[in-house]
Amino acid sequence: MRFALPLGLVLGLALAAPAAAETTPPLKDVHFSFEGPFGTFNRADLQHGFQVYKEVCSACHSLNRVAFHTLSEEGGPSFTDAEMKAIARGYNVPAGPNEQGETTDDKGQPLMRPATPSDHFPPPFANEQAARTANGGALPPDLSLIVKAREGGPQYVYSLITSFGEKPPAGHVVPDGKYYNPYFPGGNISMPQPLTDAQVTFVDGAPNKIADEAYAVVTFLSWAAEPHLEARHRIGLGVMIFLIVLSGLLYLSYRKVWKDTPH
Ligand code: HEC
Repeated sequence: MRFALPLGLVLGLALAAPAAAETTPPLKDVHFSFEGPFGTFNRADLQHGFQVYKEVCSACHSLNRVAFHTLSEEGGPSFTDAEMKAIARGYNVPAGPNEQGETTDDKGQPLMRPATPSDHFPPPFANEQAARTANGGALPPDLSLIVKAREGGPQYVYSLITSFGEKPPAGHVVPDGKYYNPYFPGGNISMPQPLTDAQVTFVDGAPNKIADEAYAVVTFLSWAAEPHLEARHRIGLGVMIFLIVLSGLLYLSYRKVWKDTPH
């Protein structure tokens, strides 16, 4: 019994030591236009972010809760109807059964058709197994809700995708097929560095350093996770104005009611 306490202490320290040696750095201090009670999405950022998702992230990540028609709806990237339809047509989705009732061709490949506005973004892999095989066993998560699903939200996703290529702390081992990233739990992630400077050339020639690309794609993914954020903020503002006016009216009526009462 006499040794129980020191032994426990030593064991405890030994177990705590590796964790204490590597702490996650604070998330990068980046401010997004959509944050705060009155925040709105910047249209250019949303359109650039869509381009980053399409040209980079969609090689591995699905976005299966987002339908093409929302790309031209109010509160979103605000592409024109024609642009949105062209974007949809650029993707292929599995076709329904043909006249013979077949859903695959003679080689067993699924029959495909161009997507329409009501379709959702198709996934890059046929199934989870194929996704894992292509990514060293790890599953690239669907990005539709990722900003809401991770503590730290947009700042976490931004910090994660802008922090590749850093030198790991002394003693940190990066297994084969993994990459060091100080923001990922444990420090080793199966995602290779997705962004480099000028990885994406924006259609309007906007700056395209890693930080710009990351800012844009995080804005786009934040919209995907909450497409009605702007409407919610507008309603919030309306409710506040209503409450302020109501308080004023109540105060005036209070004054009037009590005006002639001696007190
Ligand atoms: C080459 C494939 C590939 C590309 C391209 C790629 N990712 Fe990933 N991503 C992965 C894999 C694999 C994982 C799972 C990592 C793991 O579990 O170790 C992942 C995980 C993530 C995660 C989740 C991290 C967490 O906390 O669980 C986010 C967020 C993410 N990727 C964002 C992006 C964004 C944004 C882009 C585009 C700029 C992108 N990824 C491009 C393969 C990729």
